[in-house]
Amino acid sequence: MSAMAAARLGFRTHVFSPEAHGPAAQVAAFSTVADYADMEALRRFAEAVDVVTFEFENIPAPALALLESLRPVRPGAKILEISQDRLLEKQFLNHAGIATAPWAAVHNMAALAPAAARLGLPAVLKTTRLGYDGKGQTMLRGPDDLAPAFALLAPKPLVLEGFVAFAAEISVMVARGVDGHVVAFDAVENRHKNHILDITLAPAPLPLTVLAQAQDIARTIAEKLQLVGLLGVEMFVTADGGLIVNEIAPRPHNSGHWTMDACSCSQFEMHIRAVAGLPLPPATRHSDAVMKNLVGPEDMALWPQILATPGLIPHHYGKT
Ligand SMILES: Nc1ncnc2c1ncn2[C@@H]1O[C@H](COP(=O)(O)OP(=O)(O)O)[C@@H](O)[C@H]1O
Ligand SMILES: [Mg+2]
Repeated sequence: MSAMAAARLGFRTHVFSPEAHGPAAQVAAFSTVADYADMEALRRFAEAVDVVTFEFENIPAPALALLESLRPVRPGAKILEISQDRLLEKQFLNHAGIATAPWAAVHNMAALAPAAARLGLPAVLKTTRLGYDGKGQTMLRGPDDLAPAFALLAPKPLVLEGFVAFAAEISVMVARGVDGHVVAFDAVENRHKNHILDITLAPAPLPLTVLAQAQDIARTIAEKLQLVGLLGVEMFVTADGGLIVNEIAPRPHNSGHWTMDACSCSQFEMHIRAVAGLPLPPATRHSDAVMKNLVGPEDMALWPQILATPGLIPHHYGKT
């Protein structure tokens, strides 16, 4: 989707991916299929392009370091490093004065009981790295859950988070240009099914003051990170309208797909504009939208019906 947005702006995209025939390669001008550890392929790729960006967070640090030595990488490797690690992420956010769930690093089983005593139960034990769609985390409801939870996730480095009894989950997509100009899309509500994003409501049906504050938080994060590019900020809204940042993702986000059809400049165009050093237009929403994520054969069985329904705008990733 970023490659398609780039094409509309007159750019040709070169996709580097370990996956052959991946979604992006299907719509890009050039493609390199190679492993992230293949330094020679990375070097040839960097030498063929003007600027590098990414849509996937778990790119190994050495690959990014090599690319960054040859071409501008936007957002930079430092931002990726922070967002790859839940401990660095929370330290950065708290240091910037932004509220997160209370948390404690858990480096061994002996550290878990005191952490649970301090934060209270329920709490969520997570791997610090490589979690997605609820993978790499488990709930602690009572004292008997500690040992099995640790055994499930160890020996990876872990973090314990206090459970946030949220009223809603929201996210804001924010972009910052090379010139430091920041734009934030409207805050949206995200509802999950089996830990996978199911529905996004744009705008989030919440008080305007809460939505404005969510955008302010996202702008602050973009500025403190000196972001160049696009960043998604996931937040919890508490019953009293308080905002707690859950995690950040320096890339287009699945909760931002609605911008393709409800904004004059989508998150993908904003992403490409930011990394290419172009001006950022206002992130204005011209319509309300609901995004429904189609997951697996059951949802895809609805495809013909979706195509036949006026008002629905289908987007197929092209994943095999
Ligand atoms: N501390 C928490 N309190 C309450 N719910 C949480 C907490 N952490 C995660 N969750 C729930 O689990 C979901 C996935 O967690 P998250 O940290 O966003 O991991 P990922 O999206 O990488 O799988 C969140 O969207 C939220 O619904
Ligand atoms: Mg998440």
